[in-house]
Amino acid sequence: MKYDIKDIKLAAKGALRIEWARQDMPVLRLIEKRFAKEKPLKGMRLAACLHVTTETANLVRALKAGGAQVYLCASNPLSTQDDVAAALVKNLKVPVFAIKGEDNKTYYKHIKATLAPEPNITMDDGADLVSVIHKEKKFFPLGGTEETTTGVIRLRAMQKKGVLKYPIIAVNDAETKHLFDNRYGTGQSTLDGLIRATNRLIAGLNVVICGYGWCGKGVSMRAAGLGAKVIVVEVDPLRALEANMDGYQVMTISNAAKIGDIFITLTGDIDVIRKEHFQVMKEGAIVANSGHFNVEIDISALEKLSRKKKRIREFVDEYTLRDGRKIYLLGEGRLINLAAAEGHPAQVMDMSFANQALSAEYIAKRYKGLKHEVYSVPEAIDKNIAGLKLKSMGIKIDTLTKEQKKYLGSWELGT
Ligand SMILES: NC(=O)c1ccc[n+]([C@@H]2O[C@H](COP(=O)([O-])OP(=O)(O)OC[C@H]3O[C@@H](n4cnc5c(N)ncnc54)[C@H](O)[C@@H]3O)[C@@H](O)[C@H]2O)c1
Repeated sequence: MKYDIKDIKLAAKGALRIEWARQDMPVLRLIEKRFAKEKPLKGMRLAACLHVTTETANLVRALKAGGAQVYLCASNPLSTQDDVAAALVKNLKVPVFAIKGEDNKTYYKHIKATLAPEPNITMDDGADLVSVIHKEKKFFPLGGTEETTTGVIRLRAMQKKGVLKYPIIAVNDAETKHLFDNRYGTGQSTLDGLIRATNRLIAGLNVVICGYGWCGKGVSMRAAGLGAKVIVVEVDPLRALEANMDGYQVMTISNAAKIGDIFITLTGDIDVIRKEHFQVMKEGAIVANSGHFNVEIDISALEKLSRKKKRIREFVDEYTLRDGRKIYLLGEGRLINLAAAEGHPAQVMDMSFANQALSAEYIAKRYKGLKHEVYSVPEAIDKNIAGLKLKSMGIKIDTLTKEQKKYLGSWELGT
């Protein structure tokens, strides 16, 4: 069960890549330094279900410096970087239960192994730890954190139904998380995954982006930057309007299906691309997902429409439909930026994981006063991270003068 290192070279490669990411994570480094002195997580068993990447390894380092005993599993079967897992086991002596390409059964077996020590704190990306804990009802932690939009949606649904049994901090809600990680991180890394998987030129292609949330905005922006003709598909009138005024075409998925060259889903929703859409797609259309779960593309419908399936490149499956058309599915419909590329760059994960580390500290110190609810990251933490990030970038900003503070805080003063 435990990740077994057979290959020392693999661990050495992982260690070097972890150091490379570390250079771009100055805020997390500062937190690690303070944690090493203050040990705010001393005595805490912390189970983390995160993409096993170089950035996650640096978060694990900070948590361990804070005194936590950390157990790690993957938050997606295709997102583990095996060299990073090996380095964590070998150098940091962290039990890691993850291997790239694990099947669904192994994925859940790994989640259960991570939960076996009955952690006091959970750190989720997609709410799978919380979900298993609530199904099994063997124990409930003191508190937890959640990294992504999809996880927060699941947790808020649990709170609404009154079934959530411990407090969770929604890291995704922090501005220093979703404004940067979801937008610039997913924006760049999704295109990175798409290009690494296909080696296609994006310029001139009709790229259909399903979902114009924080992730969709980022991917649209970067696809347009590469010369794509971006088409946005939405269900929310406000976001559709925003996409239109940002300069993109907005249409229904039924119409976009007929003209798209590349489709990318980022909605957090189910069955966004379905049978009737595959039926009208152009020969050679490429379909990919960068939303959290592999449910956005109805893969079983594509399989049923096809007479042949062939893996023609590492992350490209060629489906030959009965009428002879070929459709290409990338990364088995799993988040393409982590399946075919390395996930978000360290510069944005610095802020996301600073939020994670400080939220874990907040839980360790304040869990007694928290209800079984989903909490936002305290504003002071969010602002502090933004300030530290700016400082690390050598960017100075202005502060309000006494008069400005007075003016902004008063209602009597007009002109
Ligand atoms: N790939 C990554 O590394 C990564 C990073 C962060 C978040 N995510 C995931 O990406 C997904 C999107 O996250 P977000 O922060 O942009 O969420 P968001 O809530 O800001 O945006 C989602 C958008 O999708 C739209 N939508 C929902 N159903 C739709 C449908 N059927 N057709 C068209 N549009 C639809 C919503 O109206 C909304 O505007 C989530 O699953 C999130 O967990 C992935």
